[in-house]
Amino acid sequence: KMAEKSFKYIILGGGVSAGYAAKEFASQGVKPGELAVISKEAVAPYERPALSKGYLFPEGAARLPGFHCCVGSGGEKLLPESYKQKGIELILRTEIVKADLAAKSLVSAAGDVFKYETLIIATGSTVLRLTDFGVKGADSKNILYLREIDDADKVVEAIQAKKGGKAVVVGGGYIGLELSAALRINNFDVTMVFPEPWCMPRLFTADIAAFYETYYTNKGVKIIKGTVASGFTAHPNGEVNEVQLKDGRSLEADIVIVGVGAKPLTALFKGQVEEDKGGIKTDAFFKTSVPDVYAVGDVATFPLKMYGDMRRVEHVDHSRKSAEQAVKAIKAAEGGGAVEEYDYLPFFYSRSFDLSWQFYGDNVGDSVLFGDSNPSNPKPRFGAYWVQDGKVVGAFMEGGSGDENKALAKVAKARPAAESLDDLTKEGISFAAKI
Ligand code: FDA
Ligand code: NAD
Repeated sequence: KMAEKSFKYIILGGGVSAGYAAKEFASQGVKPGELAVISKEAVAPYERPALSKGYLFPEGAARLPGFHCCVGSGGEKLLPESYKQKGIELILRTEIVKADLAAKSLVSAAGDVFKYETLIIATGSTVLRLTDFGVKGADSKNILYLREIDDADKVVEAIQAKKGGKAVVVGGGYIGLELSAALRINNFDVTMVFPEPWCMPRLFTADIAAFYETYYTNKGVKIIKGTVASGFTAHPNGEVNEVQLKDGRSLEADIVIVGVGAKPLTALFKGQVEEDKGGIKTDAFFKTSVPDVYAVGDVATFPLKMYGDMRRVEHVDHSRKSAEQAVKAIKAAEGGGAVEEYDYLPFFYSRSFDLSWQFYGDNVGDSVLFGDSNPSNPKPRFGAYWVQDGKVVGAFMEGGSGDENKALAKVAKARPAAESLDDLTKEGISFAAKI
């Protein structure tokens, strides 16, 4: 029963960008039947960051429909039925396996064909797997990854099945830090393993990382640095029981969580669209090299205007804003108008235990710490600035208030000159607050 359906607009993907693009279409007005959202997930677009945080709480855990888009930015919550009410066709459990951009058609795994006039690619990222690197035993049961809600349900199931057991977390990035905390809160005996000399090396300086590592250690998380998981062994029932490390050590494990990075899902479009830095190349309106095809969120490599270069950003704030920008550009062009170029200020954040940090701007150049970064204090409150060519280009703060976080954004946007690193350390957040 193969079907062919035609839409004016198709959003391919059902994640954060898709939710925010749908919201923007709805607020500008779409006619019934004009817009479809096609997702391989079984649920309507939701705020993905919840999966590594509230979703894993031992009590009062976040569950759908509580965190459908667009509640994460205080926007209207689009429930599954909201799409219908707004005339948007939400096509779930449907994986697109073939895209023909020249013919303007998509084909699903079931063989259904979807034609469009305008396509927004919002396929996001997929996790890197240890099996891809040929790590022995990496396909054992209870070696888990986290990207989509189905993955999160598996993590919840394993937490319940292995109550109070031993967990090994492979990777020292976002997933590594957020999942180590979540497992510890669930009373697991947690060991983190990562290859670099300190955690979150993509963003943190050694000083910033030292705070988090000591804080985590004080919470009972064990940290093993400078090595990787080189193999796993399993019980006769297939469930993992031990992790072998490259440095020769081995660790008992009832659950293994792997967070070793993600890669953008661009394979469907290989050879059909221009790529850059591993993503689909776009302009400041998220238009790709192919007419009527846009790419937003994790998959887009776009001009980051304030730094004058092309970037790909794997964070939720950009996925929301790029989606809104693309839809605004599409609608404006239809009316013969235009919108301003995307002028993005990078913004990343994370939360774990009682901690919460925000970062704005670019983490390049020299960096200085300010405030009280003693991890034993009940309410740690400290920050960092990055200075390049005499200007403050990046700002970070743990435990900042709403106003202080706004000040971080302002300073990263304004890029004021800094007299000296010493002065910045002394002035701390008041330097940003003056801007
Ligand atoms: P996203 O991954 O959200 O959506 C892609 C969608 O496309 C999925 O629904 C997928 O199933 C679908 N899809 C892909 N291929 C398809 C195909 N062929 N056919 C049909 N459907 C297809 N960021 C941040 O700033 N702060 C945070 O705290 C967090 N926390 C966080 C936690 C976890 C667990 C993850 C995995 C990620 C974060 N992030 C984050 C990152 C943030 O969630 C991420 O950058 C955005 O979700 C990206 O939005 P996209 O819409 O681009 O991809
Ligand atoms: P990441 O890039 O943040 O971290 C990957 C880490 O994997 C590296 O820092 C390194 O420590 C480690 N690593 C690499 N190879 C390894 C190996 N062979 N063995 C052990 N460790 C290894 O990626 P992630 O944490 O997996 O996150 C996946 C995606 O989800 C990213 O796009 C990320 O931005 C997103 N995410 C973001 C947030 C947030 O912004 N708060 C939260 C969760 C996830």
